[in-house]
Amino acid sequence: MDDDTGRLCQLWSRVIDIHTLDEEKFASDSPAEPYGLSATKEKHMLQVFSDPRFDQHFGGRLMQVFLYVTDECNLRCTQCYYKPWLKIGHAEMPTDVIVALLHKFRQLGAVKVSFLGGEPTLYGHAEGNESLPFIVHSARDLGFEYIRVVSNGLFDEALLSDDRLREVDEITFSIDGDTADIHNALRGRNTYARSLANLRKAVDLGFNVQVTMCVHKGNIDRDDNGRLILDRSISWAQQLGAKSMNFHPVFRMGIARDSWTGDVHVSPSDWLAVYKEIRTKIERGQYGISVRAPLRFATNSEFEERSGYYGYCPVKLAERLEIHQNGQMHSCALHNGTPISIAKFERRGDVISIGWSPTDNEFEKYPFKEGEDHPCVVMRGFSEEVRPLCISLKPAQDEFVWKRMSLG
Ligand SMILES: C[S@@+](CC[C@H](N)C(=O)[O-])C[C@H]1O[C@@H](n2cnc3c(N)ncnc32)[C@H](O)[C@@H]1O
Ligand code: SF4
Repeated sequence: MDDDTGRLCQLWSRVIDIHTLDEEKFASDSPAEPYGLSATKEKHMLQVFSDPRFDQHFGGRLMQVFLYVTDECNLRCTQCYYKPWLKIGHAEMPTDVIVALLHKFRQLGAVKVSFLGGEPTLYGHAEGNESLPFIVHSARDLGFEYIRVVSNGLFDEALLSDDRLREVDEITFSIDGDTADIHNALRGRNTYARSLANLRKAVDLGFNVQVTMCVHKGNIDRDDNGRLILDRSISWAQQLGAKSMNFHPVFRMGIARDSWTGDVHVSPSDWLAVYKEIRTKIERGQYGISVRAPLRFATNSEFEERSGYYGYCPVKLAERLEIHQNGQMHSCALHNGTPISIAKFERRGDVISIGWSPTDNEFEKYPFKEGEDHPCVVMRGFSEEVRPLCISLKPAQDEFVWKRMSLG
């Protein structure tokens, strides 16, 4: 047995999941236990108890999880939505908690996991936990089909040579402009060159590299040649060897994060104009890589015509969970940095309990009605003429879960 397998066995032998739903109902969604869990159930120490409402809500519907494995970060980007939870020290989710939770999420049906934070490549450096590659390897062993790491790219390049990291399906580099000036203005001096060096190295080593780019006031316009900077950025990413480009426009949305995401937002009308141009080129097949762009707004009549589609909402669908080191779990990314959660986990000794949030409950605080489609219930303050749509609604996107769910 190699070192990793030994350590994994130790962790798995400490995981037992006593969910409160009836086993029959769950049987078809539960992964087989290929890693010998049953055999070691006598010795388990770390147990997961969950509220039946949690299991009922997510069971058989959960597709993906976003695990914020550390709240530590080596940057403080102007636009960062995670700022209120960034910490220095004591910021990591312990490895055995991660393994136990991942196992639980697999039982509920999750097939994709994204590791992020904070900066996930810092994981394991300071608090005696295992390393990020170990977690990636564990996720694969637990049966996750798509594993993604989202990074600012500022890591020691040796990380890329770790065989276990090679088990990822995608490394996302967050780069906020195709030039150093544009990117560094948000992320700090020299960050562009350092991230790009690792991106190139990752491409050379054969990793599936994606670029995620925030759309902000520094890259929403045209360059001196009249070309959209974002359009130019897609060609730039392709030339670097990235396989896809994913845009995250930064808006003021009438929500808590407006107060900490800096003065870099773009207006809905500016985004919609740029979106249209880029969408046209996507549909004509004019880009050599896949491009994911959220629509974000529909007119009233557009919404009424396709409310089933435009009403896409992960909170209603129970399709995803974001999980934080402080125990908070929520389905909507807009709740990052706020007390709003659907559930919370707590570790006491060798037991993890997942409780349905009694206050500020993400599912109960909004007027969801069965069978009724609605625009985003979280964003506020846009003109009466437009309806805000989910930030994750990216038409025809080439994304693992979107395609698996045939969302179109
Ligand atoms: C919070 S970061 C954590 C992972 C890692 N530190 C990084 O920067 O890639 C996760 C993703 O959120 C993006 N992001 C940060 N602030 C954002 C904002 N205000 N709106 C949309 N996306 C944002 C980042 O660019 C990154 O792709
Ligand atoms: S966006 Fe990522 S790199 Fe920037 S401060 Fe936030 S967590 Fe750190």
